Amino acid sequence: MYGVKLLSMGKAVPVRHMTNDELTQFVDTSDEWIKSRTGIEKRHISTGETTTDLAINAAKEALERSGIDPRQIGLIVVATITGDYIMPSTACQVQAAIGAENATAFDIAAACSGFLYGAKLATDAVRVGSCEYALVIGAEVLSKTVDWEDRSTCVLFGDGAGAAIFQKHHKNNIINIYTQSNGGLSECLTLPSIPLKNCCVEQETRSPYMFMDGRAVYKFATTVVPMSIQRVLEGTSYTLDDIKYFILHQANARIMDSVAKKLEVPTDKFFKNLHEYGNTSSASIPMALYDLQEELKPGDPIVLCGFGGGVTWGSMLLVWE
Ligand code: ACO
Repeated sequence: MYGVKLLSMGKAVPVRHMTNDELTQFVDTSDEWIKSRTGIEKRHISTGETTTDLAINAAKEALERSGIDPRQIGLIVVATITGDYIMPSTACQVQAAIGAENATAFDIAAACSGFLYGAKLATDAVRVGSCEYALVIGAEVLSKTVDWEDRSTCVLFGDGAGAAIFQKHHKNNIINIYTQSNGGLSECLTLPSIPLKNCCVEQETRSPYMFMDGRAVYKFATTVVPMSIQRVLEGTSYTLDDIKYFILHQANARIMDSVAKKLEVPTDKFFKNLHEYGNTSSASIPMALYDLQEELKPGDPIVLCGFGGGVTWGSMLLVWE
């Protein structure tokens, strides 16, 4: 088994950003409601940038910062629920765009836990020696999945991508990582795929948009996240007090505050950038870690925690280097 290090990161967002006040042109809402219920102030919305574009741009930045040759990358995993194509995968399009000709490339769908699911696969692959470098990307254009007349969902989401390159290393910085799912709760968050319509069936009539039972999601998140954070620390030499920052999936500031309270950890240890980007699903954790980079010092222990549709969740304990 080898050690694994987080080598570099990249981020990409659409140029257009939209404030809460601007949303009042589309739906009956207010800046006050959105800010007080969620902590979101604005979000970036695609005016043509695709999920693939964002994934490629984030990957290019991570690659540039890493200093490696793209041909050294052995694995590319893109976590997304908003790929532009079912086939080819977003990961294969990234592979072609960055010239990672020796990589195995595929997408995974684990919603807002997608980056952590991808990181689990990638770090396991690096750890056992399957590859020396692995690229994991969370990329979403969620603005195409919401009903822009439904104020209960369209105000929450944004578009963006974050990328990370993991490297085989003599020192191990990824201390622990685990993921879990519970398909029994799947109905609280759904997004349909291509509807069934064929020679035997007239097109089914379900809504094409994202559905969210907000209260059920809140309950799931505030229950599973504290448990998930404690679980990733178990069996390590780190305690909650040792952790410099917690980076949760950026869904809702109230979820983060509730988790901080349950764990009896100061809320300022929970990094937030959702006021700027909204909920970007699989992209939110790498985008948040990217934004926090400047503040981190070598040796800082950090916990990442994702939770989302499926339902899925997972956490990573890493030491910044
Ligand atoms: N603007 C104004 N009013 C609104 C809006 C809006 N954008 N959306 C809903 N309302 C109204 C409702 O219609 C309702 O009105 P009524 O009482 O007249 O019927 C009222 O506000 C309260 O609605 P609730 O859904 O009960 O609002 P709640 O206080 O529960 O907040 C929220 C909703 C923010 C979604 C909350 O349930 C929550 O935080 N859930 C967690 C879900 C989440 O974070 N999802 C992110 C995506 S999933 C993920 O990333 C894992």
